[in-house]
Amino acid sequence: MTQHPLTILVTGGAGYIGSHACVELLQAGYQVVVIDNLCNSKPEALTRIEYITGKTLRFYHQDLRDKTALAAIFATETIDAVMHFAGLKAVGESCQKPQLYYDNNVYGSLSLFEAMAAAKVKNLIFSSSATVYQETDQRQYSENHPLGAINPYGRTKAMIEEILRDLANADTEINAENPWKIILLRYFNPIGAHESGMIGEDPDGIPNNLLPYISQVAIGKLAQLSVFGNDYPTPDGTGIRDYIHVVDLVKGHLKALAALTTEHFNNGGCKAYNLGGGHGYSVMEIIHAFERVLGRPIQYSIAPRRAGDLAEYFANPKLALNELNWQVEKTLHDMVADTWNWQTKNPYGYNSP
Ligand code: NAD
Ligand code: WQD
Repeated sequence: MTQHPLTILVTGGAGYIGSHACVELLQAGYQVVVIDNLCNSKPEALTRIEYITGKTLRFYHQDLRDKTALAAIFATETIDAVMHFAGLKAVGESCQKPQLYYDNNVYGSLSLFEAMAAAKVKNLIFSSSATVYQETDQRQYSENHPLGAINPYGRTKAMIEEILRDLANADTEINAENPWKIILLRYFNPIGAHESGMIGEDPDGIPNNLLPYISQVAIGKLAQLSVFGNDYPTPDGTGIRDYIHVVDLVKGHLKALAALTTEHFNNGGCKAYNLGGGHGYSVMEIIHAFERVLGRPIQYSIAPRRAGDLAEYFANPKLALNELNWQVEKTLHDMVADTWNWQTKNPYGYNSP
């Protein structure tokens, strides 16, 4: 890679995690180019990124599957590295519309990698997920935990990981001059929002995930939370996950970007890292943390288990600490308080007056 200021292409930069990445990148002095088709995001997010940072980014309203558009963007911009966030992410929807998920996520990624290779841009950070891991008796997942996604969304992530490992393997054998340098970041459960309360998670319709659901109950848009099962083999019977503040998560991306330029990656390669806190919280612990921030109770009732949910899993984040010099800094209180700050400042997300 060349010297600063590097230009980073952020696919899906108007989305929840991508928008936070844009803020961190701009604040760290990088130039940012965003490609997003806005299928699950609003252009207002981009306006707010610029407001928070006082810097501008360049935005292309395009779909990754449009190869002509991608080639034109790579011809116009001098890109040093790509952070690839763009994708569809709803597990339930992926079971109903698998073709849409394989087309958007897998074909869209192939299209991106083809444009990158043609432009000789071969530094990539990819948004993978803990959902690529197989369910076993082991509840803490290290990067060498067996892989085995159990739904179409997860399989798109697993397939893209395989594609990237194959790309890197093929490349180091035949072209050592400008090899693929690829980091796969396996996220656990990203929650929270930027401390300004200006950008955050803005789900369409009724949220699927715990934190947006609780905050909409807290603000009165939804009547009560259904706790999906209290008979799991966990201390309080509710599901346990490794929640990670979105700002900690995107800081991990900047560390990964820096790692691509170290001698560790001189010969290229493709390597996966977990991004998680290494600690699990139960649904009831999250509810109680939210109640402490609110100073009042959250309405909830116990409902049956949700199909496909695991009882408990959390990250072993040591590899990211040892090799990327990254670890979470935010607390559970920060995660919940920042979620609530975003919700109260934007009761209707980016459509709020
Ligand atoms: P998001 O939906 O908020 O953001 C994704 C963005 O990509 C959206 O702005 C959407 O409009 C855009 N997009 C989707 N398909 C596109 C396409 N074909 N062309 C151009 N733009 C496209 O999701 P997020 O929560 O910010 O997630 C970002 C990435 O992280 C995704 O790849 C997701 O699978 C992954 N991930 C998310 C979570 C999570 O819980 N949020 C966990 C693990 C992994
Ligand atoms: C967390 C806990 C639920 C909602 C999902 C995807 C995963 C990843 C992140 C991208 C569980 C419980 C939830 C509710 C509840 N995405 N819950 N009532 O399922 O761990 O992960 O998002 O890669 O692939 O599956 O997150 O927030 O939906 O659930 O009781 O209304 O909260 O049962 O224990 P999950 P979640």
